[in-house]
Amino acid sequence: MMLAEHYPRDDNGWILFPRDTELRRKLQPAEVMEHPAKMNMHLLIEIVKEFTRPGDTITDIFGGVGTTAVAILMGRNVNLIEIETHFTDLQNQMRAGWVDQEQDLRQLVSKKIDGYTGDTGNLLVINGDNQRVTYPPTDHMIFSPPYANDLAKLGGGALTAQTQKSADLYTHSRENLGRKNEFFYRQAMGKVYDKVGQSVRAGGTVTITHRDRSRAGRRITFANSIIRELTSRGFSVLDLNKWKAPGTIAQRINAEKGALVINDEDVLTFIKDE
Ligand SMILES: C[S@@+](CC[C@H](N)C(=O)[O-])C[C@H]1O[C@@H](n2cnc3c(N)ncnc32)[C@H](O)[C@@H]1O
Repeated sequence: MMLAEHYPRDDNGWILFPRDTELRRKLQPAEVMEHPAKMNMHLLIEIVKEFTRPGDTITDIFGGVGTTAVAILMGRNVNLIEIETHFTDLQNQMRAGWVDQEQDLRQLVSKKIDGYTGDTGNLLVINGDNQRVTYPPTDHMIFSPPYANDLAKLGGGALTAQTQKSADLYTHSRENLGRKNEFFYRQAMGKVYDKVGQSVRAGGTVTITHRDRSRAGRRITFANSIIRELTSRGFSVLDLNKWKAPGTIAQRINAEKGALVINDEDVLTFIKDE
């Protein structure tokens, strides 16, 4: 068992996925590009392949533009919970766009998953606040939480109109967890993790992707606290990976200036104890 075994790794053992722009263009409406924190689609496909089976149900409680929904083309059933209506509209638009080309799209995705040839799974889109919504019983969860103060981060500097627009869309709702300060964010995430613990069946998995942050030139790590949250709620660590995101121009400029650039992302997988 090895996540993304057919992809290359760098000297640190970090997985190297290519950019997913081409794949996304074939599967999603163009507006999804405005979402600033999408999960790499190649990574999502590999997580689904490694930790789930056709017929299983996967829930993403931070649904974003619906990257996890691609798993229905791999025969899994998917529930998405997302607070921003703008993004759930895009999820529904994406699903509607697949209707007349499901077989081709299943082939496009299944080329990457050892030839799955069964039916498309079901997709349930829930537009709501994951602090309040009841989570459906599920075999697996896959998600990337937002960060505390995401609005401050995104909106705090001199932004181009386009970046400001995507920042505003990203944390529009009052109860968006990315708007909370560190204290209230941790409190809210604690309750979210309680619900995660209640809805995943014994033997099921949770995979969380999270990138460290840099503050005043120092790395702020998140993996330890996520591991603490899950292991205190009846989960054990199943697999820990890192992947290295392709760099951006801004990162290259920052690196040349000697600033700390974080382009590795943790992929943390847990199994619910029997
Ligand atoms: C890091 S992004 C996830 C992106 C997603 N994996 C994708 O590939 O599109 C986090 C998402 O969580 C959503 N979110 C934040 N607070 C939420 C809440 N309380 N309930 C549901 N969704 C929330 C945000 O709107 C954002 O789209």
